[in-house]
Amino acid sequence: MIYPAARILAIETSCDETAAAVLENGRVLLSSVVASQIDLHQQYGGVFPEVASRQHIITIYDVVEQALQQAYLSLDNIDAIAVTRGPGLAGSLVVGMNMAKGIALGKNLPLIGVNHLEGHIYSSWVYSSEVPNPPPIPEFPLIALLVSGGHTEINLMGGHLHYKRLGGTLDDAAGEAFDKVARLLGLPYPGGPSIQKAAMNGNPNAYNFPRANLDGSLNFSFSGLKTSVLRMVRELEKSRSRLPVEDLAASFQQAVVDVLFKKTIQAARQHKVKNIIVAGGVSANQLLRDTFLGQTNFNIFIPPFKYCTDNAAMIAAAGYFRFVNNLIDPLDIDVLPNWPLS
Ligand code: KG4
Ligand code: ZN
Repeated sequence: MIYPAARILAIETSCDETAAAVLENGRVLLSSVVASQIDLHQQYGGVFPEVASRQHIITIYDVVEQALQQAYLSLDNIDAIAVTRGPGLAGSLVVGMNMAKGIALGKNLPLIGVNHLEGHIYSSWVYSSEVPNPPPIPEFPLIALLVSGGHTEINLMGGHLHYKRLGGTLDDAAGEAFDKVARLLGLPYPGGPSIQKAAMNGNPNAYNFPRANLDGSLNFSFSGLKTSVLRMVRELEKSRSRLPVEDLAASFQQAVVDVLFKKTIQAARQHKVKNIIVAGGVSANQLLRDTFLGQTNFNIFIPPFKYCTDNAAMIAAAGYFRFVNNLIDPLDIDVLPNWPLS
């Protein structure tokens, strides 16, 4: 199907990244600016919501202006404004939403509220205008594994914007487990990259941490795994002067990746689907990427690193498909901090 040409300016402020991007025709990225607040939050060991929203206020104008400049465009060349409506931190979402509404009102442009999780999935459509050959487009039906700091779920997509939730975490999200276990091991926030780095020098078979099977369902549970790491840390602290952080990190990472991979493949087999998208911040994990890309029975779509963690390019991609399906929002929409995908 041929979709109409359109340029989307997107804004993302759901958590601790202030981001804006310009995307053409749902795929071609003209610019993407991400101002990370990690340095600000590191001292708290996690995201401090009020600090996050106030930093978005300071940064948002410059970030949007830079996104337009880097695309060599002005607002006169934009067809619609997409913005993350939820889920996320209310005070952070409001900043991006109000910026988007201001632009939409001032320039008489359509406003499109985008689900952040939908954005993560659509990051697989995005490619830079600078690459010589466009990567293949994910084809439906597909299984989307979404693994971020706040969410872990498997969805079946029969077509654009259609999600059937097949399973999800019953407790912690995968990224949350990385962040909590990193803290246990004395590694800095955000935990995912810290654990990955420590694990590079560790033995993934040093400790046999649990892989929750949950009666063969497509649900996940990571709290038992986290507790198991905690118990092991307490035990080791009694007998050793230095924790084997590398082995603990590698064994934990292996346990998370094993269960994410196994259940996603199970979902694809059960629904006779050939195509799999892996998206969300945890999809930046090298072991997870290598594990999915290392098998040949399914077509795997994992975005390049820079589009795995929070960014606005993915919001623009999802926004484009909403725009071409006439899913335009009125200017009085509120943010939805707990907005589910399906
Ligand atoms: O998608 P994201 O940027 O924000 C949310 O929507 O939550 O995901 C952030 C999460 C954090 O929990 C972070 O620790 C995790 O993604 N993460 C990783 C890696 N990079 C980021 N987890 C494992 N390995 C990584 N390399
Ligand atoms: Zn995210």
